Amino acid sequence: MFLILLGPPGSGKGTQAKTLSTRLKLVHLSTGDLLRAALKENRPLGIEAKAYMDKGELVPDELILGLIGEKMLDSSSSGYLLDGFPRTVIQAESLDAMLDRNQRKVDLAIKLNLLEETLIKRLSGRVYCPKCNANFNVFFDPPKGAGKCDNCQGTLERRPDDQENVVRNRIKVYRNQTEPVEDYYGKQGLLHEVNADQPPDKVTEAIVRVLISSGKK
Ligand code: AP5
Repeated sequence: MFLILLGPPGSGKGTQAKTLSTRLKLVHLSTGDLLRAALKENRPLGIEAKAYMDKGELVPDELILGLIGEKMLDSSSSGYLLDGFPRTVIQAESLDAMLDRNQRKVDLAIKLNLLEETLIKRLSGRVYCPKCNANFNVFFDPPKGAGKCDNCQGTLERRPDDQENVVRNRIKVYRNQTEPVEDYYGKQGLLHEVNADQPPDKVTEAIVRVLISSGKK
């Protein structure tokens, strides 16, 4: 199965992708996580991407397509959950071409819906542990000790692109460049919208209901 999670920054794609990929036995591919890992390892891709990410702009399509093609060829899994990709119509068309060459296709695209002010609040509260990658949210899922990771006691950090001015640009970029991707899947009858303004487990259940009603589970 090829399942795509769409939704503006902070709508909960990463949170849902972690739960759903385990539950549905799909490989979770997050282009944002792959770019941040490349940066952490000082790879040229990460260094080049940083300039775009820090401003909340999209990384050029050719860099992303090289990255995703490599990862999808890497794995022998029969199913993928794509989080943060595709983000432009060019990426969506290239994904279709890549899948078509392997007699595969996108099964469903799920869009997580949330009001802009809630997106901003979620991202202003997000903290993560650079040592073990655990995520917390000071408003919605606070760590037990202030500023320390519950799992490994690492010092929690904020993502540089979670500053409010950058978040507002990321949301604008989503509206301009990624909403056309929603239309792309909508025209093919593959797009389903889910209310993301509810606790994470309820969002997961809403997505699973869509999969069941579409005959994908
Ligand atoms: P990326 O890492 O993909 O960021 P994003 O899409 O902006 O998404 P986020 O990770 O910020 O949010 P999310 O929707 O995953 O929400 P999360 O679950 O974390 O991309 C970063 C950058 O990389 C881009 O700006 C771009 O530069 C570049 N890039 C990446 N992919 C690219 C591509 N394909 N093409 C070009 N450039 C690309 O949740 C957010 C917070 O809310 C967390 O604290 C979480 O705990 C909390 N939360 C989640 N769900 C709930 C809930 N139901 N209730 C309460 N709190 C919740």
